[in-house]
Amino acid sequence: MIREKVRVKTFKVNGVDITGQSNQTVLEVAREHGIEIPTLCYLEGVSCVGSCRMCIVEIKGSHELIPACTAKIKEGMEVITNSPKIEANRKMILSMLFSERSHTCSTCVANGDCELQSKSVELPLEHSQVPYLNQRFEIDASHKNFVNDPNRCILCTRCIRVCDEIEGAYAIGLAGRGLNTRIIHDMDEPWADSKSCTSCGKCVYVCPTGALYEKDVTEEEVVKKREIILELVKNRGK
Ligand code: FES
Repeated sequence: MIREKVRVKTFKVNGVDITGQSNQTVLEVAREHGIEIPTLCYLEGVSCVGSCRMCIVEIKGSHELIPACTAKIKEGMEVITNSPKIEANRKMILSMLFSERSHTCSTCVANGDCELQSKSVELPLEHSQVPYLNQRFEIDASHKNFVNDPNRCILCTRCIRVCDEIEGAYAIGLAGRGLNTRIIHDMDEPWADSKSCTSCGKCVYVCPTGALYEKDVTEEEVVKKREIILELVKNRGK
């Protein structure tokens, strides 16, 4: 495989010239320069899947909105991170996430520590723009320490990537299609019966919502440790 040489590139974000390296994404370089772009599925330290589309930006010359977390920077490109079009699309994306499952914050253990909730406050999204589907999934509370509630899941797959890439356990996967997709353990066994799960809890720490949570903790006590992965990745090199 021929590796492309990493080069310094200059491009514009919101009209301001910034520089980054050719192997970096728009999101990485923007954040390095203090420009915030909202994300949900993105998790620093693991691979990017670009599935939630919260980080969409406008790139001059493209009719489509592009996810900043997967778009590599290019010399001379012009990026807009916020506009009425972007905001309208982010609102629709959040609305669809809310409507697909049950995200009643007042009865969720992650209330106050939920990224879906905080993104909707920041936008702001006052109400869902699409009707609720009121889907009901079975909750897996078989594990002695943790619970998997698919009703709160936004299918960001952070748990899968952390389990594969950081813990190396490959215990979590996806089953079903479309609206019925859900997180499973091993071959869709109860979490307690999973032979691959090491019970490390990393998947629970990085879950952006209350889909994966620790047992016997109250809403007040829930503290997600999403930055733990970055610390683990940095410490690997030491
Ligand atoms: Fe970029 Fe999810 S954060 S697509």
